[in-house]
Amino acid sequence: MSKPLDILGNYWHAVATSDSVESGILSVKLLQDDYVLWRTPDGGLVAALDSCTHRQAPLSKGTLEDGCVRCPYHGWLFGSEGRCLEVPSASEGLPIPSKANLKSVHVEEKYGLVWMCPNDPDAPIPEVAAESDSSFTRLNTKMQIWDVDSTRMIDNMLDISHFPYTHRGTFGIEQETVVPKIKLEQLDQTFFGYGYEVKINNVGSAKIMAGGGADVINLQMTTGFALPFSVLSTMSYETGVEHKLFMTAAPIEEGKSAYTFVIWRNDDVSVLVEPGRTIADEVIDFSFAVGLEDQTMLEKLKGQLPLERGGLVDVQADKPSLEWRRRYKKLVG
Ligand code: FES
Ligand SMILES: [Fe+2]
Repeated sequence: MSKPLDILGNYWHAVATSDSVESGILSVKLLQDDYVLWRTPDGGLVAALDSCTHRQAPLSKGTLEDGCVRCPYHGWLFGSEGRCLEVPSASEGLPIPSKANLKSVHVEEKYGLVWMCPNDPDAPIPEVAAESDSSFTRLNTKMQIWDVDSTRMIDNMLDISHFPYTHRGTFGIEQETVVPKIKLEQLDQTFFGYGYEVKINNVGSAKIMAGGGADVINLQMTTGFALPFSVLSTMSYETGVEHKLFMTAAPIEEGKSAYTFVIWRNDDVSVLVEPGRTIADEVIDFSFAVGLEDQTMLEKLKGQLPLERGGLVDVQADKPSLEWRRRYKKLVG
């Protein structure tokens, strides 16, 4: 494994949604390695390299038996923490060698997501304060796979100068192109970034998301990052609606990432906007439409974001990305 990949293994990455490990065995890829994930009867999770200790068969192709995974090749059975519980070919009473246990990796659940850390973690999972604020409701979405390097995704999430162009189909206003001077600061205990005001198109689903207002509004926002690949954007609408958008990318391999977003809102998202359709449905669909605009653009860009000095031309609006790159380069060495 290359040095950057090895160091990224010391950080938590969101690899799946909690929903997706409710009833089956999951196979996920992180930092070029394949892992198997499953839920045990006590509600815990096991994450381990997707390779049986016996003959390296993929356990993700096995079967789930009462919270244990049976290997599809010779039927060895693995339970909590990856412990080998049964070797069907062995005579009864013979001890199971401890080397038969899977080497499980750190796994945790937070914000409805499954986070994995292949090595010992150097930092906690990014803390989103809204999660412990009872006036907010969390909305989860699915895990997506983007053919985009995680470095390019963060660069995009920290950038607002693409709004009038990339997002002209949703909220971007073409004539509003100038980015005011950016002042970077520590936004809370976790996220480092900046506050700003943007003028946005506030029609259709955007207006439902805003909780009303005129057709063009000024929106107060903050955007900040937590290394390596998480970004939190907050939107404060004049209507009093607060919308927090947490975005996180997990590097599958160079040029490919798992991506998901989680939203917290302080309004009643169960309110119907039309029969059978809630505010939550509108907000999620609109967010997917915005994300698709980014994905369509980013999938045209190949490989990693150049990190070396002079590798890219940066202007004032790129200040947040520059700072992220500076810190990221320091992190991966
Ligand atoms: S390879 Fe898994 S039991 Fe043999
Ligand atoms: Fe965007």
